[in-house]
Amino acid sequence: MALVLLAAACGGAQDPTPECLVAEDGSLVPAGCAVEGQPTATPTATAGPATGPTAQQLFAGTCGTCHAIDGISVGAVGPDLTQIGARADAAYIRQSIIDPDAVIAEACPSGACPPGVMPKTFGGLLSAGQLDALVDFLAARR
Ligand code: HEC
Repeated sequence: MALVLLAAACGGAQDPTPECLVAEDGSLVPAGCAVEGQPTATPTATAGPATGPTAQQLFAGTCGTCHAIDGISVGAVGPDLTQIGARADAAYIRQSIIDPDAVIAEACPSGACPPGVMPKTFGGLLSAGQLDALVDFLAARR
């Protein structure tokens, strides 16, 4: 195991930077004030919103049983939505989610789309933020 020595301390007089320097095998490297054996407090970037599922996770869990999107879900009751953004705008997509029977899509995997199959309850089940995120997610799929 390499011997790691803490050299010039944080904020040392000769060191204008706030970071500690660690002498490791003779070289000085910025160490973010880490001390061996102790965790650093370096913040890490996380993907997606801070709370709740991403739109993709929401789709996969809530809609994916009936709708396919390449690489995400394989449902074959309603239309494949892989390129829904290319044939529909956000307003149509929103209406399709909260009021599915307002317009009945034409082509479903097993033939003409059946009315009354897609649940009409999503408007109440999804929060406004979840609905917005789902609409954005689908409208961007071209
Ligand atoms: C129980 C099966 C089922 C579930 C669950 C379901 N759908 Fe559907 N969906 C359908 C069917 C069947 C249609 C076609 C009939 C129609 O237009 O209402 C459809 C139509 C659609 C359309 C219109 C597609 C087009 O090509 O015009 C969109 C958009 C859509 N669904 C989105 C969703 C989203 C988003 C969810 C999840 C919140 C969801 N669906 C959940 C069965 C389902």
